[in-house]
Amino acid sequence: MSSLKTLVAKRALEYVKDGMVLGLGSGTTVAEFIKLLGKRIKEMDWKIWAIPTSLDSEILALRNGLHIVTLDEYPEPDLAVDGADEVDPHKNLIKGGGGAMLREKIVDYASKRLIIIVDESKLVKGLCEKRPIPLEVLPFAWRYVIHTLSKNGSRAILRPSGGGKIGPIVTDNGNLIIDYFPGRIIENPKEIETFLKNIPGILETGIFLGEKVWRVLVSYKSGKVEVIE
Ligand code: A5P
Repeated sequence: MSSLKTLVAKRALEYVKDGMVLGLGSGTTVAEFIKLLGKRIKEMDWKIWAIPTSLDSEILALRNGLHIVTLDEYPEPDLAVDGADEVDPHKNLIKGGGGAMLREKIVDYASKRLIIIVDESKLVKGLCEKRPIPLEVLPFAWRYVIHTLSKNGSRAILRPSGGGKIGPIVTDNGNLIIDYFPGRIIENPKEIETFLKNIPGILETGIFLGEKVWRVLVSYKSGKVEVIE
């Protein structure tokens, strides 16, 4: 699987030019992209300015020789490159498997162009086919949000840290993650996004709308990379 990530990350590099301000997403596929970008910068003596969307990506970017800047300095990055957990046929996405979707959504939506890099396992017919919708929630509101969403066949759970730390995941912004299982395939992502955003305490959702995505690059076991426009 890691070679599929490298394959698609390599393809994304073709869109990067010297002097660009880049939004860097988070996750294992973007990690491959950051490492390749670091090599390219060294080889070509490029100058690239990077806005990372998580502490994880920031550390990796620094280790690979990228210059870190902020969204305050560059509120409209030239290009953002990010991964995803699910991609539907309209380029709608579920993100937040790594809990970084709040900053990701800000940087991805702020950028002139957004490229999503995934392998074929991420393609679905409809959102929530395989994954829940991650929600970044203010700690004060977590029980209320779970209570509100656990109705009519839906369920919501607080995401545990899963190792290395006792207790729930705490995001880079000091909030909690709730995974929402709507109990059905999402046909209208905009509608569910509005429903979720209307619940006080939900700061961001892992639904990213296809209209914000410029290209999706998909790597296949056959060795091919598809570009979805
Ligand atoms: C991080 O919170 C996510 O949005 C990632 O972009 C997404 O989970 C994809 O990660 P992988 O590339 O590790 O599958």
